[in-house]
Amino acid sequence: MRVLIAGASGLIGSALGERLGREGHEVRRLVRREAREGGEFRWDPPSGTIASGAFEGVDAVVNLGGQRLFPGRWSAMRKQQLTDSRVEPTEVLAEAVAEHGVGVLVNASAVGYYGNTGTSTVDESAPRGGGFLAELCEVWEAATAGAGDARVVKIRTGLVLSAKGGLYGTLRPLFALCLGGRLGNGSQYMPWIALEDEVGAIVHVLAHDEVSGPVNLTGPEPVTNAEFTRAVGRALHRPAPWRVPGIALKAVLGQAGEEMALFGQRAVPAVLERTGYAFRHRTLGSALAAA
Ligand SMILES: NC(=O)c1ccc[n+]([C@@H]2O[C@H](COP(=O)([O-])OP(=O)(O)OC[C@H]3O[C@@H](n4cnc5c(N)ncnc54)[C@H](OP(=O)(O)O)[C@@H]3O)[C@@H](O)[C@H]2O)c1
Repeated sequence: MRVLIAGASGLIGSALGERLGREGHEVRRLVRREAREGGEFRWDPPSGTIASGAFEGVDAVVNLGGQRLFPGRWSAMRKQQLTDSRVEPTEVLAEAVAEHGVGVLVNASAVGYYGNTGTSTVDESAPRGGGFLAELCEVWEAATAGAGDARVVKIRTGLVLSAKGGLYGTLRPLFALCLGGRLGNGSQYMPWIALEDEVGAIVHVLAHDEVSGPVNLTGPEPVTNAEFTRAVGRALHRPAPWRVPGIALKAVLGQAGEEMALFGQRAVPAVLERTGYAFRHRTLGSALAAA
């Protein structure tokens, strides 16, 4: 298969590119700088330009781009940038997918779509929740509408566990210094997924023609923040005795602190399980050991 990846330099994109390459697929990368290596094609999402030939013979496009949601507060300007950095590129890619008759578009989204779900279990049939992240995910997913006849898969990813980056990669050094702790009252659910399964699930949806629409990319057993904190402490052989009060998170980080740290989603991977994806890491302990 010839697969074109946008956001290929990121945590998920680089791991996906490596895996597809190892499995004998041809990987092309869209880059926002000058192309330096074979297989790289320059694009400029705000102006909608893509180097010619990028889509030639491409079977699938995987879009994993977007400005980081953390750290820092979400000012009105930052929210606009977070939205633009996802919606504009997705629209450009969706149009190109339709124009070039590409068979499948796999587009990033997040479990933030569901808002704050408390203890209720949510699968892909759950409605959009409240909050900025939920609204962002809705417009991000809607931006794939121009993809024409392509099969569109909207991957609603949870917290990807890797020491190399993402939220866990950022928190891990704090836990290693015994500075880890619960966030708020610790009852919010954290739908984690091992990086290996994030990539494995993308390969799975690429290969399964029957999969389209929203797909939760989360491990089968989401845990509460309190359980997550204890598990990370155990995995790193460090106590994680602290508790960061919710009020402090909101005071320092505003809406970003509230939605990123205190909102929870007990999201389960119903579509992946139904279509036979075999998780490499079904439990948090196994995923943390790998990370
Ligand atoms: N990691 C997670 O836990 C997680 C969870 C849920 C959802 N997601 C979403 O999944 C996607 C991939 O995640 P990731 O962890 O691999 O992210 P990442 O490591 O931050 O990489 C994202 C990539 O997006 C591109 N990018 C950065 N700023 C951009 C901008 N202003 N406009 C367009 N593209 C930009 C960059 O690639 P280039 O420089 O190569 O273009 C960057 O490497 C992101 O949209 C993220 O929000 C991630």
